[in-house]
Amino acid sequence: MSASRITPGDLTRMKADGKCIVALTAYDRPTAMVCEAAGVDVILVGDSLGNVLLGYETTLPVTMDDMLHHVRAVARSTHQALVVADLPFLSYQADQAEALRNAGRFLKEGGAQAVKLEGGSRSAETIERMVTAGIPVMGHLGYTPQSAHVFGRNVVQGRDVDVATTLVHDALVLEEAGCFAIVLECVPHEVARAISERLRIPTIGIGAGNGCDGQILVFHDAVGWGPGANLKFVKRYANVGDILRQAVSDYAREVREGVFPAAEHSFSMSAEARVLFEQELEEMDAGCDE
Ligand code: KIV
Repeated sequence: MSASRITPGDLTRMKADGKCIVALTAYDRPTAMVCEAAGVDVILVGDSLGNVLLGYETTLPVTMDDMLHHVRAVARSTHQALVVADLPFLSYQADQAEALRNAGRFLKEGGAQAVKLEGGSRSAETIERMVTAGIPVMGHLGYTPQSAHVFGRNVVQGRDVDVATTLVHDALVLEEAGCFAIVLECVPHEVARAISERLRIPTIGIGAGNGCDGQILVFHDAVGWGPGANLKFVKRYANVGDILRQAVSDYAREVREGVFPAAEHSFSMSAEARVLFEQELEEMDAGCDE
């Protein structure tokens, strides 16, 4: 472990000191390096890569191999941020031993420092086993995308008292099970604040208002690169998609017009080598004519 890498314990201290935690997703080296250079505390290699990078409708088809490929790239490219790897659908729900092995693979083969998994009380035993084995676990409550077919169009979770109360209960259960932080996704701000006030560990909100101890967004949404940038809870800090489209159409036009590559993008021979080369070509061409 790098001496300067942020640890789960640092996040608890940040909450106690009233310092807000900054988190973003990253799936590759250039994005991870941008996040780290900007001082992001937590980089989540989210299974949202299924929608954002791989073109799936939901996160459900994402596999352990898909995740490991991206976790390795992010872990290799960072030295300060805490790298959290998202356990994909069915990598931890079916069997406790398999869950532990998969979580361990993210640390052992992927180089991550922690894992994230979705679910409340039903995930508590799995979390306990992982934490006992030395694997830091981030929980995820509220709208949990791996249950997209259960939620249907009901994205915001906890608008009614029953679900809100269950969320508070589940958050306390996850803290007790050993989670070092909990993502709260698409939860009314009143509920997220109530949970944050009752926990010692930090909450990281996405669509959960400003009463959380930290915030996370999907990188591509935050920089305006992809369809998710229009969601209500997303603030778009740049319009990278437009910049990229302009750059690619400029490139295509210049190639078609013969403007690119210009002399400054080309290599050349020395004057002597050029003379000799032309002589060789003349001899070759003459030989072909005979
Ligand atoms: O997969 C992901 O990117 C996430 C965040 C939205 C929290 O789970």
